[in-house]
Amino acid sequence: MGRGVANIIARQTPQLAPLNLKITRAAVRNLTPARQAEHPDIALTTDALSIVNDPNIQIIIEVLGGIDLPFALLQQALKNGKQVITANKDLIATHGRELTALAQQHHVALNYEAAVMGSIPILRTLNTNFAGDQITALAGIANGTSNFILSQMQAGSSYTEALQLAQQKGFAEADPTNDVEGLDASYKLLILSRLAFNLDPKLSSIQRLGITTLRRADFAAADFFGYTIKPLVQAIRQNQQLRLSVAPTLVPKNHALAGVANEFNAIQLASNNTNSLTLSGPGAGSLPTANAVVADLQAVALNLQAHLTPTNAATHLEAAENLDLPTQQAISLTSNGVVTGLDVATQLGIHGQIFASGDQLHLLTQAVDRHTVAQWQDALSHFVGIQLHHILPVYDPTVRGFVEKFQSDEKKMNITA
Ligand SMILES: NC(=O)c1ccc[n+]([C@@H]2O[C@H](COP(=O)([O-])OP(=O)(O)OC[C@H]3O[C@@H](n4cnc5c(N)ncnc54)[C@H](OP(=O)(O)O)[C@@H]3O)[C@@H](O)[C@H]2O)c1
Repeated sequence: MGRGVANIIARQTPQLAPLNLKITRAAVRNLTPARQAEHPDIALTTDALSIVNDPNIQIIIEVLGGIDLPFALLQQALKNGKQVITANKDLIATHGRELTALAQQHHVALNYEAAVMGSIPILRTLNTNFAGDQITALAGIANGTSNFILSQMQAGSSYTEALQLAQQKGFAEADPTNDVEGLDASYKLLILSRLAFNLDPKLSSIQRLGITTLRRADFAAADFFGYTIKPLVQAIRQNQQLRLSVAPTLVPKNHALAGVANEFNAIQLASNNTNSLTLSGPGAGSLPTANAVVADLQAVALNLQAHLTPTNAATHLEAAENLDLPTQQAISLTSNGVVTGLDVATQLGIHGQIFASGDQLHLLTQAVDRHTVAQWQDALSHFVGIQLHHILPVYDPTVRGFVEKFQSDEKKMNITA
């Protein structure tokens, strides 16, 4: 991504030219004479700390990756009074609050637009467009790798085939764990929740499910029920409470998020004044993401030119409590013939629509709370003769949460808008 940023700056567009931006130094791990010759006007070094401590540098862009080294470097950069831009979601999800406090203390900017959803200007939108509004819910596709894999499975591939294609195309890493287990999306959901709701949820309060147990049959069943399966991040707010989930989720086929395919990301915000706002675009890739870094750079440089003190996202976040809203579930089972999946479901009091094919049973259940889902999970996974594949949540676009102090008593009684 560093290369992408350098290439965009070199183009000197009409918006960038008046800012007189110049990349003077860059850190790399492997410094060779050939590499230096490629960039004669940028002094390369393997010593990133020397850049952070260079008194002639005003703005630091961190695109190294990792957590501990960039954390140490950016703490030092902020203490040295440098404006900081980073694309590092793992760092911001883990240490964002400390870094933001340090940036406030030293009256410098800490911008990280590229860290969440690549090219989509979601953080700037959350920071600047809702001053007189309250966001009540958000839902989106925040991980391009998972969305690519599920889109391929929807079109007929197996999970393994889809993952291999994603790796060939550079959409998945050799070790895809963070993406396919929903960790990457969980980090993004934490960052989004802080900015959208001014609340600070814990990683452990996110209901997280990876995509690795999905099979072709799940897509056929979802289709039968009128849904498609998307890797959804969701946050719903009621007062100080949030319900957060990252999971392959059944999304109604006619909903906007159902049409967001392959490596694309999207986010939909529900708020009191605006009702619904949707943004979508490429979630990764060198140029789309570098574009977000350059947008941060432009904002920082304009502030510097105007001698304005940057405003960073709020540091005084209130703790978020867990919200338990009943949700429909999609259960996927295989029975070995000793008992039928349907008998077992009936015994457990699971009601809903049924899609059966051979020994495979799919149930679209009534809306139930977390406790009931956990009870079903436990009972089904211990039932002799039944193999439980997974229980997936179903997205209800009409549930928009609410913020009590902004709404009338009548509306308080009704969480579905
Ligand atoms: N790529 C994307 O689409 C994307 C999207 C959103 C966010 N991000 C985030 O952006 C960051 C960078 O991603 P990337 O894909 O550009 O990674 P990358 O291709 O691995 O580039 C990292 C760069 O940092 C240099 N580097 C790493 N450790 C260093 C050290 N200790 N000292 C000096 N230089 C060091 C590497 O040097 P060498 O070249 O010598 O190894 C390399 O040039 C990550 O935080 C990632 O999560 C990436």
